[in-house]
Amino acid sequence: MLQSSDHAILLSEAERLRPKSVATFLDQNSDRVSQLTITGAGLTLDASKQMIDEQALGALAASAAGADLAGAYERLITGGEVNITEVRAALHTLLRGTAQDALPALAGEVTATLRRMRAATEAIHSGDHVGASGQCFTDVINIGIGGSDLGPRMVCRALDDASPKLKTHFISNVDPHDLDVVTRDLNPQTTLLVICSKTFTTEETLTNAQRARSWLVDSGVSERSLGQHVFAVTTNLSAAAEFGIGEDACFPIWDWVGGRYSVWSAIGLVIALGFGWSTFASFLAGAKAMDEHTRAAECTENMPMMMALLELWNTRYLNTETHLVLPYSQRLKHLADFLQQLTMESNGKRVTLDGQAINEVTAPVLWGSAGTIGQHSYYQLLHQGNRRFSADIVLPLTNGDVDKDAHRKLASNGLAQSRAFLIGRSAEESKALAADKGLPSELAPHFEIPGNHPHSTLVMESINPQTVGALIAAYEHKTYFLSVLMGLNAFDQWGVELGKIIGKQILATLESGEGLDDLDASTAALAAAWREANS
Ligand code: F6P
Repeated sequence: MLQSSDHAILLSEAERLRPKSVATFLDQNSDRVSQLTITGAGLTLDASKQMIDEQALGALAASAAGADLAGAYERLITGGEVNITEVRAALHTLLRGTAQDALPALAGEVTATLRRMRAATEAIHSGDHVGASGQCFTDVINIGIGGSDLGPRMVCRALDDASPKLKTHFISNVDPHDLDVVTRDLNPQTTLLVICSKTFTTEETLTNAQRARSWLVDSGVSERSLGQHVFAVTTNLSAAAEFGIGEDACFPIWDWVGGRYSVWSAIGLVIALGFGWSTFASFLAGAKAMDEHTRAAECTENMPMMMALLELWNTRYLNTETHLVLPYSQRLKHLADFLQQLTMESNGKRVTLDGQAINEVTAPVLWGSAGTIGQHSYYQLLHQGNRRFSADIVLPLTNGDVDKDAHRKLASNGLAQSRAFLIGRSAEESKALAADKGLPSELAPHFEIPGNHPHSTLVMESINPQTVGALIAAYEHKTYFLSVLMGLNAFDQWGVELGKIIGKQILATLESGEGLDDLDASTAALAAAWREANS
């Protein structure tokens, strides 16, 4: 956790820098870009547009040393019990082969499961494993929610291919419309289901799994041959067996893998089924490369450490209110959705590890969408609203052999927005613009744009399995380092659990009408209205 002496220094550093201009820093120091650029695992982080200088960077690096980020990382990857309220490790790094030597027994289980996943994937692709009617599979539906959905969904969209091995689909919401829309155009005889639920108790997933099962049976897949169409990924083999999925069709995950960190486990099976085993293996390799970078690099050369320090600096010291993730790649359209769970479920906390209240803000509110779509919507607020924000612009340099002209336009927008966040438009320029338009100078403030918004640009050669793996791993480690700096547990989610408990009580009330008196007056009236409408 951050030492109080470091906290005091960072407060005064922020005070010193607040009136400064990042554009001026860039003008005055021709080495600034190279000094504030970090490379690792196929990614480049340009942090030169952050409100930071050498002295503040030194203070941040000292606070990282004070909080022993390097030691915390060793503890994470070697199986330390980092999740203290659930009394478990968080070993997502082991899933991609990091620090195997430290945990040979668990590493053996991971390897055996990967082997089974590979065999199942290849049997489906080769036609050795076919559907009940003897036809090869053409489509796979992943049924899951939260970490059992967002990671695989994001990665499958990122690696989307004109000729995938199987077309990938996702059902998550308990709203039946989700399943109905996805299954509408699919042939049940050639569709495989992967039911992903670490606990196999999640209401949404079990409801959807039941409905998907009925969809298969109603279209002629017999109960007896249902097993050919359904895989499960879970820690709860007995619940999966009760659902009718035998051990052969079940892939294990373990309680030492957090849901939002589980895309590297069999939860990612849909990625392998969609795009082939070598793609999944490269995805794991990309993440492992980022793990190695994180273990080896000094703090100011360490991408996830710097990302965490900058997030702390922006939210806690420069008082930014939200953090945007703006990928200039349609392939990354689900990146912000994925990062919302990773960041806010992990670090949206209010007490330290020893239960003391945290008085400063913790996780930033994270949002964003693929450029350029947001530019025609909420970017107005970013440029001229009065909220403080920080951002990551994600910029792949190439886009395969698709239309180069369109790709150039996309990139120019990403770079233009980054520059606009930096320079804005000054009062003088605004006066000149008003005059050009023949408007009185009193209207000039309408054209003023403050700029000076701290942001980084994350660059990669292209969106491919390795870079996507490295990108997710970088954000995972940033999230963990931030939790270490803030002194909180990044691996539980008791706020979410409260919603599940109350949800069960209210479901019983909606079914029976009993228990209305136990609810507050507002919820009781709403529940009564629902019962009335559905009677
Ligand atoms: O949203 C809460 C949560 O517990 C997440 O942490 C988890 O990823 C999700 O529910 C799904 O849980 P499961 O995989 O057990 O169905």
